[in-house]
Amino acid sequence: MKQPHAPRAARRATERVAIYPGSFDPITNGHVDIIMRGAEIFDRIIVAILHNQEKAPFFSVDERVQMGREVFADEPKVAVESFDGLLVEFARRERAQVIVRGLRAISDFEYEFQMALMNRRLAPEIETVFMMPAESYTYISSRLIREVFALGGPIAGLVPEIVEARMRRTDRARESRP
Ligand SMILES: Nc1ncnc2c1ncn2[C@@H]1O[C@H](COP(=O)(O)OP(=O)(O)OP(=O)(O)O)[C@@H](O)[C@H]1O
Ligand SMILES: [Mg+2]
Repeated sequence: MKQPHAPRAARRATERVAIYPGSFDPITNGHVDIIMRGAEIFDRIIVAILHNQEKAPFFSVDERVQMGREVFADEPKVAVESFDGLLVEFARRERAQVIVRGLRAISDFEYEFQMALMNRRLAPEIETVFMMPAESYTYISSRLIREVFALGGPIAGLVPEIVEARMRRTDRARESRP
């Protein structure tokens, strides 16, 4: 039975926390779409930025965390963190019950399916949930954004405005370096 006035600790225990992991280099409007859908369903959604071994990321992990926090500054349900090591260990530390992943196309499916089953083997208590973005975002990936940007193409409308501005600033800083 539902308790209308459950004590704080009890409420916390039943809080639904989701982790949305990825590299988010940079965060795109496709990611934002998934995060906002997640925020409708879960009490809290933690965007978890992976410290990966990528040799030449566009943005450092710290820059990505900072930008993510700016993008979601007005969304109390959304937090942005970075993590290292096994995702399921991070999820356990954060007391998350759910891993959220986005599916754009069938091409995402095979890898996502493998990851979800491996994570289930590692942590059976954590469920992976897949969400689909609005159709207009289904073709967006961070890699494509980086490529189009590097070739001088417009990326407005595909990433949050502060991300676009930051990409331009970073690009100029690189150009002016000797
Ligand atoms: N446009 C999008 N719509 C829905 N889900 C997305 C979209 N872009 C990425 N995702 C999902 O977000 C999660 C994190 O993805 P990731 O950080 O790898 O982004 P990405 O755009 O795929 O970046 P990259 O191109 O560098 O791999 C994954 O589950 C991925 O499938
Ligand atoms: Mg990807």
